[in-house]
Amino acid sequence: MYQTIDFLKQVYSSLKNSIKWQTQLDEFDIVIFGFLITFILHFILNRIRLPSRDYNQSYWSFVKSQVFMGLINYCPGVSSFLEKKKEEALKSFAHSLDKHTTNKTFKIPENGMGYDKINERLKSWIERDSKNYYSGKISGSLYVHNDHKFIEECQEFTKNFIYSNPMHADLWPASRQLEAEVIKMTGELFGQEKESIGMLTTGGTESILLAILAYRNWAETEKGITQPNIVIPETAHAAFYKAAEYFKIQVRTAKVNQKTFSVDLKDLKSHINSNTICIVGSMPNFPYGTQDPIEELAAIAKKKKIGFHVDACLGGFIVAFAKEMNYGKFDFTLDGVTSISCDQHKHGLAPKGVSTVLFKTRQLRQYAFFSTATWSGGAYAVPTTQGSKTGIGAAGAWFTMLAIGRKKYAELSKQIINATIQLAKQINEIPELEVCGQPKVNCVCFKSKGNINVYSIHQILTSKGWNLNTTQNPNGIHISVTQQNLQNLKQFVQEIKEAIQEIKANPSKYRKGGDMGALYGTTQKIPDSKFAGNALKLYLDSVLKL
Ligand SMILES: *Cc1c(COP(=O)(O)O)cnc(C)c1O
Ligand SMILES: *[C@@H]1O[C@H](CO)[C@@H](O)[C@H](O)[C@H]1NC(C)=O
Ligand SMILES: *[C@@H]1O[C@H](CO)[C@@H](O)[C@H](O)[C@H]1NC(C)=O
Ligand SMILES: *[C@@H]1O[C@H](CO)[C@@H](O)[C@H](O)[C@H]1NC(C)=O
Repeated sequence: MYQTIDFLKQVYSSLKNSIKWQTQLDEFDIVIFGFLITFILHFILNRIRLPSRDYNQSYWSFVKSQVFMGLINYCPGVSSFLEKKKEEALKSFAHSLDKHTTNKTFKIPENGMGYDKINERLKSWIERDSKNYYSGKISGSLYVHNDHKFIEECQEFTKNFIYSNPMHADLWPASRQLEAEVIKMTGELFGQEKESIGMLTTGGTESILLAILAYRNWAETEKGITQPNIVIPETAHAAFYKAAEYFKIQVRTAKVNQKTFSVDLKDLKSHINSNTICIVGSMPNFPYGTQDPIEELAAIAKKKKIGFHVDACLGGFIVAFAKEMNYGKFDFTLDGVTSISCDQHKHGLAPKGVSTVLFKTRQLRQYAFFSTATWSGGAYAVPTTQGSKTGIGAAGAWFTMLAIGRKKYAELSKQIINATIQLAKQINEIPELEVCGQPKVNCVCFKSKGNINVYSIHQILTSKGWNLNTTQNPNGIHISVTQQNLQNLKQFVQEIKEAIQEIKANPSKYRKGGDMGALYGTTQKIPDSKFAGNALKLYLDSVLKL
């Protein structure tokens, strides 16, 4: 991501100069003038296809983004200039990733490579990369506990399923059973005592996509809604925006309370209308680790007769095993809850590639299934986005749940909760910092109380080997507590304190907040958020390039 900064910075400053977008005062005149020009050109060039404002966009930012994009699209030379910049950016992103690329293969070798040679490569890659992921200084990403015997046995078990294809349930009955049992055991954790109604997916994102798809199809069929919207807290995961983009659904974002960092119910209610298909709450959310008021949201959904998805992707396996924490109800024992997502591959401690989405009723789940009876290839029905699929996910989750057991999950869960609460307390004791809300599950996010740029703290921590996430609105640093970093949190707090001392000793060096400060500073200045978002796609081009 860092590599997008230079590109955005260059583009922004060149455009700014070329269109003389100099001061706040100037800006206003240019906006009015540019808006008229843009409008006229839109009419002429697009035959009256008027641009439309995003629901969450203010009128002023809509005008600014239209002018900005108008200038980019219609100013002579600007688009060819941008194309050139994009090519340069792609080259430089790819170059910076190339540092970690060794022994490139561009073509299938004429004769197969010997196993020894292949294993030699594998060894060198694992040796290098495991220093990153087993450093104990990364946020989230790797959740498994440091029990090497367990990890080895899990690998031994799952390898038996690498060629399985549970799409063919008749050929791989064991894989089918593992999948159904994982769904059953997970549903049981969330109040589905008799029958668990769910689907096994490849991750939290797919679970969320399928839940939103179910609501869209349900609302269209049963309520005739053709212009659907979802109302989600600003803290809801990016996957909800992805679902909305994939399935052409409007997103209406509800504010979160800036003290508690959970959704403002009044604001949320104000966005619900007759086209709303569902609302969302997180248990907890990714940015701040705070929970939304799930019981109140369930009551709203029930009253309005719309869906309510509880996103427990991150915290499901923690909160379900911590009854003594009095988190309140968050599962199907609440009448208004209609779907829940929960990731085995996060605090379920399973290998990557497995999550569960649960539904209140079989009818609702059917709205996310796909089937056709008339395809020339034969009658065809699959539950998720996949066709042929691997049984590894189900096998990894099944092995993990059985090998760990409820007692151990409860114990591990208590450790994470305890460490999270301790960490928040210790950070709040640092006079320059403040924790966002009162995190009580598995993530902590903190912001600056005074004039220290929090991204500079991030910059220093990164140089000391920490791999953390930054948040914006407000600017903050996020850490997801895992079994991998649990032992190093004392050191984490110590290094935060040292970073603050270093910043205080060198204020001019650390004013700007390093790379993350530059990235967010620039993206927040670019008037069209889609343009800034598209620049991040250049980063993806380079990730996928050899
Ligand atoms: C991680 C996460 C997701 C998405 O899960 P993936 O497995 O990364 O696709 C959804 N919601 C929350 C709160 C998360 O933390
Ligand atoms: C990978 O490349 C390095 C040099 O770049 C070489 O020394 C090494 O032998 C190669 N490894 C394999 C397995 O081909
Ligand atoms: C919680 O953390 C505190 C301080 O680190 C420790 O003394 C206590 O034993 C922990 N409790 C549990 C249940 O882990
Ligand atoms: C968190 O930060 C890491 C390291 O910068 C990055 O690779 C990852 O994509 C980020 N994750 C999220 C969810 O933002």
